[in-house]
Amino acid sequence: MTARRSADPAWWQTGVVYQVYPRSFADANGDGVGDLAGIIQHLDHLADGTADSLGVDAIWLSPIYPSPDFDFGYDVADYVGVDPKFGTLADFDRLVEACHGRGIKVILDLVLNHSSHLHPWFESSRASRTGPHADWYIWRDSPGRTKAGRRRPPNNWRGFFGGPAWTWDEGRGQFYLHTFLPQQPDLNWRSTGARAAILDVVRTWLGRGADGFRLDVFNTFLKDAALRSNPRRPGGRGWGAQVHLHDRNQPELVGALAELRAVVDERPGRMTVGELFDGSAADAAAYAAPGHLVFDFGWLGLPWSAAAFREAILRRDAAFGPTVWPANVLSNHDQPRHAGRFDLLPGGEPSLGDARAKVAATLLLTQRGTPFLYYGEEIAMRDLVIPNAQAFDPQARRSSPRAPAWNRDQARGPMPWRGGHGGGFSGGVPWLPLPPDHEVRNVERQASDPDSVLSLYRRLLSLRRATPALVRGTQELVDVDDPEVLAYRRAADGRSALVALNFASRPAHIRLPVPAPGGPWRIALATHPRQGRDALGEALGEGIGETAILAPLEALIAYD
Ligand code: GLC
Repeated sequence: MTARRSADPAWWQTGVVYQVYPRSFADANGDGVGDLAGIIQHLDHLADGTADSLGVDAIWLSPIYPSPDFDFGYDVADYVGVDPKFGTLADFDRLVEACHGRGIKVILDLVLNHSSHLHPWFESSRASRTGPHADWYIWRDSPGRTKAGRRRPPNNWRGFFGGPAWTWDEGRGQFYLHTFLPQQPDLNWRSTGARAAILDVVRTWLGRGADGFRLDVFNTFLKDAALRSNPRRPGGRGWGAQVHLHDRNQPELVGALAELRAVVDERPGRMTVGELFDGSAADAAAYAAPGHLVFDFGWLGLPWSAAAFREAILRRDAAFGPTVWPANVLSNHDQPRHAGRFDLLPGGEPSLGDARAKVAATLLLTQRGTPFLYYGEEIAMRDLVIPNAQAFDPQARRSSPRAPAWNRDQARGPMPWRGGHGGGFSGGVPWLPLPPDHEVRNVERQASDPDSVLSLYRRLLSLRRATPALVRGTQELVDVDDPEVLAYRRAADGRSALVALNFASRPAHIRLPVPAPGGPWRIALATHPRQGRDALGEALGEGIGETAILAPLEALIAYD
């Protein structure tokens, strides 16, 4: 980030982004699969300009393009169409118009590392070594046969979902590369023709009104030109058995990103957010640029521990510094949902409470950076329980005792809008079962409960909007004399906000820093009832002195 003045931050910095997994958000036509018309019907939930909605600034749609669904949309068979199961291009236009009418930006998921094996580009590429698409994918001869007579692949690279990253194609008489499934052949970013076609896809969607793009696994776009084998990592299994030195993060990536970003930057106000595949906070910061965020996934693997978060935040702040803007995330369609992840007590038993989800929400929505919410987290939705044997998810289906994998279907359950048959998600049979607690955990019910997780999300979003320090302020961790309380101060325009999060299931006596002008801190939000109200009967404004007591798992925001 360079040019922008602090008085003039862009929407991708100030805003909150909400990830919609279209299959599971809302099904308008009753076929059991969510669709674009369903999303349009539920825009009031996302932003209707009143306190009765979340008030998000943008939605990110997981892939909506025609796909044979070997990897549920992340295998694209037509980059510029809409899959009939989700609707039509006209529905997409309606969705963009409806979103823009409410001030919601629309971010599309671009899967540009690989296409589907059924994409016409790949069908043409595999058909001929000399045709127009011959070099659009990464083809190599076999260097020979093993003693057992099998064709040896060009190098030792592994596919992320298991097995080798190379598949032999009988027709072309060569191997092709796929970082993921054999049904997801990697595009060749070194091919001028392929790269031009990719940039055209970006232009097409910009022209159709997309405000930005999430870039799927962007750091794998370029591979080592000589396709050298990766070094082994002793003790690792599957994908983890190698150091991924040559199949991602190549120096040529920087130029390719610059080209793609230049196309996006032709339209002021458009942005990208990159999915860093298997990388550190330092990598995320290094690839970010003004208008081009990169997810920092550093919080996804953390246990419920103030110390672990403190360390991750220090690492992240050191990597991003005061100018690079982070993109913060606790849940997405690839990971166990955080409400369940954090809810486990020692011994692995769920506590079944939402108090930790509330603390986590306060963290996500008050840390420096752009928060990305995953549909359902606003009601603290939990994962489904679906054994790998019944999985749709290719990662789980290919799981083996030697390389076990988590079933991602579990984080992709239908959104429970209300109780009753279909939960307001679908009038038909949902493609995945509704969460078993959907009669009690649903949007309608939480909307009428001031102490619900949903009410807290709404309050947090509205407080953010009204508090510049929380949106664009500097950030500094604060020691409050209790290792189980994570506290930090955000400051902008001479005003501060203090956030204190009690990770412990016991009360915490904390010592507060002196607020800037010397006056007392005033409580703006507390997740537990206090004298001046809230939980979330609101009001407050209650002053607190140099010390305060936090209730077990209480989150508190104060201002000076
Ligand atoms: C990304 C997506 C994931 C997909 C993979 C391959 O990690 O988030 O869902 O399976 O890329 O496209």
